[in-house]
Amino acid sequence: MTDTATPSTTAWWRHAAIYQIYVRSFADADGDGTGDLAGVRDRLPYLSQLGVDALWFTPWYTSPMADGGYDVADYRDIDPRFGTLAEAEALIAEAHTHGLRVLVDLVPNHCSDQHPWFRQALADGPGSPLRDRFWFVPGRGANGELPPNDWQSYFGGAAWTRVTEPDGTPGPWYLHMFAPEQPDLNWEHRDVRAEFEDILHFWLRKGVDGFRIDVAHGLAKKPGLPDVGPDPDLTDLPYQDCDDVHEIYREWRKILDSYDGERTFVGEVWLPTPDQFARYLRPDELHSAFNFEFLCCAWDAGALRDVIKGTLAAHLPVGAPPTWVLSNHDTIRHVTRYGREDTSFEMGDKRLSDPSDPVLGRRRARAAALLTMALPGGVYVYQGDELGLPEVQDIPDALIQDPTFARSLGTDRGRDGCRVPLPWTGATASLGFSPDGASAAPWLPQPADWAAMSVEAQLDDPESVLTLYREALALRRARLVGLPETLALADAGADTVCFDRPGGFRCLVNIGAEAVTVPAGAHVLLSSGPLARDADGLRVPADTCVWLDMNGTSGARR
Ligand code: GLC
Repeated sequence: MTDTATPSTTAWWRHAAIYQIYVRSFADADGDGTGDLAGVRDRLPYLSQLGVDALWFTPWYTSPMADGGYDVADYRDIDPRFGTLAEAEALIAEAHTHGLRVLVDLVPNHCSDQHPWFRQALADGPGSPLRDRFWFVPGRGANGELPPNDWQSYFGGAAWTRVTEPDGTPGPWYLHMFAPEQPDLNWEHRDVRAEFEDILHFWLRKGVDGFRIDVAHGLAKKPGLPDVGPDPDLTDLPYQDCDDVHEIYREWRKILDSYDGERTFVGEVWLPTPDQFARYLRPDELHSAFNFEFLCCAWDAGALRDVIKGTLAAHLPVGAPPTWVLSNHDTIRHVTRYGREDTSFEMGDKRLSDPSDPVLGRRRARAAALLTMALPGGVYVYQGDELGLPEVQDIPDALIQDPTFARSLGTDRGRDGCRVPLPWTGATASLGFSPDGASAAPWLPQPADWAAMSVEAQLDDPESVLTLYREALALRRARLVGLPETLALADAGADTVCFDRPGGFRCLVNIGAEAVTVPAGAHVLLSSGPLARDADGLRVPADTCVWLDMNGTSGARR
């Protein structure tokens, strides 16, 4: 927790601010209502001025979009809706000239049912050796009419779909931990391993700086695919965190390290215990992983302090930098989460209609942004976080595209509410997402009141969320990047999260109702909201975060 370990702090990925681009919803240059690479290229100056270090692109590959691109049909090409491979190459190069690194999303647990491997395996019929690249398994029951085991898809329903053979007869079942359009690959098969090693080389040669690994805990399956049973041990499920998965990452790490520059892996690792999680971050595996415990944590001082301490304790033994995440394309936007009575989050959260106070949510979201940016390690910004966008909770059923909606028979409204196209200006029908005269409306409707939250509306407003992000990212770069990855918790009251970083920097978040006094002699570097002054001095009101210079050497702000 304190200055016991001082890992090398020079590598960029140890302290990067990484901006997540959900390509479909970022910016649409060709006017078809879907975001594209040309739209991103146009906005690179915006991203570089925002002050982030790297961009993570959610899957941009050829895909039928049964799961927003996480169903990949060709890992070495760009979906035509997004552009071309040549444009991706240009985008990588241009991002680099803007000082922005590029991470791409690797989806190795499953591919699309339209991937040539799966189509061929189906077409070749029973006994085809190509089926061994997937999990084709005979069903149970007298005629194989029951799934091979009791596994449930993360999206709802059985994790198995029965095959109809080319001659029309019912065949075996295939495994899909997500949608039926996403058959799981069999990582025991050497073709699968060789293919993904080649895909890594392909994108590394194109100049990417790293990969986000989708479902990193899920690739290996327990031999024999045993039933989960009625009362499963969540730390020992047969479809996640099986030991063989680590061997895959050790091989990949060797490949990555054979390239010049500081390339990096970040894992999407959702696991119940910090020990399980940390094993993915051993020095010869992945460099970092998303901190979902922090994302799920309620807006509560004690709970946040515990998660921060637990996070640092889990990362320290493996020497990996922690990361801090508030939202992503799978979760409810944190402005909305923090405006609710229950401010915690759980994957599969179905409370989309729970009421949320937007003013309270935004105030807390501003404070949370400063908290994440003050902590040691990496920080993620999901597109639209910097505008303070809320979850869109009233997308009409007919327009919802997330497969979780249909698979849950409508009980889970899914993740489209955090994927609504960004507002860039207030003036046009698509709020600047698409060009004037676009041939189609944005693929999801934007709320009319988003005009007031557009980039244009916020850019020159000193009180806007965008201005806060720009100031905070700049200050973080100047004051915190490159410091030892340590913090010392300070006691500023039970309802606060307060800690010191080296160099006299203090972060103080007041989560309680009573205002908290800024220590005498400290200078305010930045605050997430207005501070009050009374006889005791400067006061930090509820749900506000301040960054302080305890040496009092820097000028006051706000
Ligand atoms: C990850 C992605 C999510 C996707 C799933 C299946 O959790 O973040 O969007 O649906 O994997 O690929």
